[in-house]
Amino acid sequence: MSGLQGRWALVTGASRGVGLHVCEGLAGLGCNLVLHSRALSHTQALVPRLEGVGVQAVAVAGELSDPVQVDVMIDAALKQAPVIDIVYNNAAVMTPWRDDPWDVPADDFRKSFEVNVISLARICYRLVPPMLERRWGRVINVTSGIQEQPNLTPYAVSKAAVDKFVRDFAPRLAGTGVQMNLLDPGWLRTDLGGPKAPNDPATVLPGALVPALLDGAGGRLFRAQDYVGLSLSQALDKARAG
Ligand SMILES: NC(=O)c1ccc[n+]([C@@H]2O[C@H](COP(=O)([O-])OP(=O)(O)OC[C@H]3O[C@@H](n4cnc5c(N)ncnc54)[C@H](OP(=O)(O)O)[C@@H]3O)[C@@H](O)[C@H]2O)c1
Repeated sequence: MSGLQGRWALVTGASRGVGLHVCEGLAGLGCNLVLHSRALSHTQALVPRLEGVGVQAVAVAGELSDPVQVDVMIDAALKQAPVIDIVYNNAAVMTPWRDDPWDVPADDFRKSFEVNVISLARICYRLVPPMLERRWGRVINVTSGIQEQPNLTPYAVSKAAVDKFVRDFAPRLAGTGVQMNLLDPGWLRTDLGGPKAPNDPATVLPGALVPALLDGAGGRLFRAQDYVGLSLSQALDKARAG
């Protein structure tokens, strides 16, 4: 029995890519799921598939650039799940490649911060306090290893903001039973990563599960690609070794 059996996880961006694999990995550990995407139809097929593994799965929808929809989505999650123990803030948008890195539209920054940072913060603000009351919770905020790509600066700096958010909150959470960590999935052939990426999206497992399972971790960056080819217990041993 895993430590996540019977827990409830909200995974944003659950319909495809990293989120889909995270959901499948969590379901395999007996974790119930709240699946988020922009439209309920995007996770319609996933719900019965996960229920087939023996867990409960429900779907919520919300455009994360819209703060009203973010709150509606969280309300819907809390209505359908008894508690939210685990949050994977995974959904994100990649801004377009801009050929001239000195002329990037302000809207690229606005959109990437709305979806990638502000909604993530709001989800934490709503869901972490109840975790603190219950003295158990896991927040995994998905970041990126993107570096030296000024043509994609709005996306890259939004992920730097996510890193800063986690590093500032993690010490505050020490000793509370609630852990907040970062996950870098690696460069993957998803819709966001594109066809030139070197890694299959399935390689996020088992590493993406480590920050949900590992006790005593806070403010750490877990790189899913560090755990490729390992069993889950080997991955946890590797993470414990540092
Ligand atoms: N792929 C990579 O190479 C890579 C590398 C480093 C980090 N990451 C990070 O990994 C995470 C997942 O990326 P991915 O590659 O799996 O992306 P993806 O395949 O493009 O999937 C994006 C997911 O986010 C949802 N989403 C997109 N825009 C949204 C919006 N405006 N509001 C609400 N939901 C929205 C989508 O839902 P719908 O079904 O409704 O569209 C979908 O479920 C992101 O945080 C990304 O930054 C990815």
